[in-house]
Amino acid sequence: MTERDLKPETLAAHALGRIDEATGAIIPPIYPSTTYERDADLGYSRGRSYSRADNPTYDVATDTLTALEGGTKTLLFASGMAAATAVFQALVPGDHVIAPTVMYWSLRNWLLGFATRWGLQVELVDTADLTAVRASLRQGKTKLVWLETPANPLWSISDIAAIAELAHRAGARLAVDSTIATPVWTRPLSLGADIVMHSATKYLNGHSDVVAGTLTTAVEDDFWTRIKAVQSQSGGVIGPFEAWLLQRGLRTLFPRVQWQSASALTLAERLSTHPAVAEVLYPGLPGFPGHELAKRQMNGGFSGMLSIRIKGGRENAIAVAAGVTLWKRATSLGGVESLIEHRASIEGPTSPVPDDLLRLSVGLEAADDLFVDLDQALRRIGSGA
Ligand SMILES: Cc1ncc(COP(=O)(O)O)c(C=O)c1O
Repeated sequence: MTERDLKPETLAAHALGRIDEATGAIIPPIYPSTTYERDADLGYSRGRSYSRADNPTYDVATDTLTALEGGTKTLLFASGMAAATAVFQALVPGDHVIAPTVMYWSLRNWLLGFATRWGLQVELVDTADLTAVRASLRQGKTKLVWLETPANPLWSISDIAAIAELAHRAGARLAVDSTIATPVWTRPLSLGADIVMHSATKYLNGHSDVVAGTLTTAVEDDFWTRIKAVQSQSGGVIGPFEAWLLQRGLRTLFPRVQWQSASALTLAERLSTHPAVAEVLYPGLPGFPGHELAKRQMNGGFSGMLSIRIKGGRENAIAVAAGVTLWKRATSLGGVESLIEHRASIEGPTSPVPDDLLRLSVGLEAADDLFVDLDQALRRIGSGA
């Protein structure tokens, strides 16, 4: 069977089935070397010169991700933020860019701060609303549309295929932060996006022990060359050990994300009828505004992330987070352990996130144990204890 015949689950589990040529090892080695021998004629016939540009340890993770996303090339970065900001830094001052009103807060802050001071014209738009996206595109002037779907932490869904068409017609590229969906549920490049980004700190690695980011491109064009130059010149590269851990994490991506998403759906359904919960935000619930689109765009699952709004507001939300024992109070998401977080506290006063909201990242525990733990914390606020 060739790689092309294999299902994504198999490609991921085998990390493309590579065997180390030198030793026959089925797990790849780590290359800590920062530098590579030059040929006598000063060339680099083996393709590598210095590890700020490239390292052979990256190959398994980059090639596996390229195959899973259906792209042509992948770059690994020191963090999700390093990956995302490299895309914007490959533009030029004066370019108009569109990004979602609700998105990963640190990138929104960077866009409204550094990127705006640098000269990008940043416009935040509700990208779940196609009419709003259409109205904000400026023909020939908008160079990039950035989407995040599902968008952290309200999980609104944006229509990748429709926005790709609108963006391309206006002469803009489309980049998608697919951290939450992962290639298990969505392949943005197959829907017309030009670049897909991940905070690999989350599901791709999946064990809360690596900070990393990735970009995968549909084509190796000038824009991709500029992104590569931003990376190698500014130095936002990943270390070889982290790249090695990432390829190990990728091997279990499918069973992890499938389990986490099934548990998230169970919890979303059970919490929807809980007397202490005002609202559950989860694209898998039929009443959720983006549900029908998520069903079409996501390949049968809705991610391991959900948010709940607690009756009685901020104080009760904080009390619920304080009252759990199995869920860990911590930021981040996508790891094997379930995390709970009061987002408004971390995002600060400019956050669009309601202050009665708790974000839940569902791990690999039994869904029933997770529910029982949340339920006892929710009941305590109900009883005023
Ligand atoms: C959706 C999303 N995108 C990007 C990032 C940034 O990734 P990193 O923390 O790896 O820089 C995060 C981090 O929480 C995220 O949740």
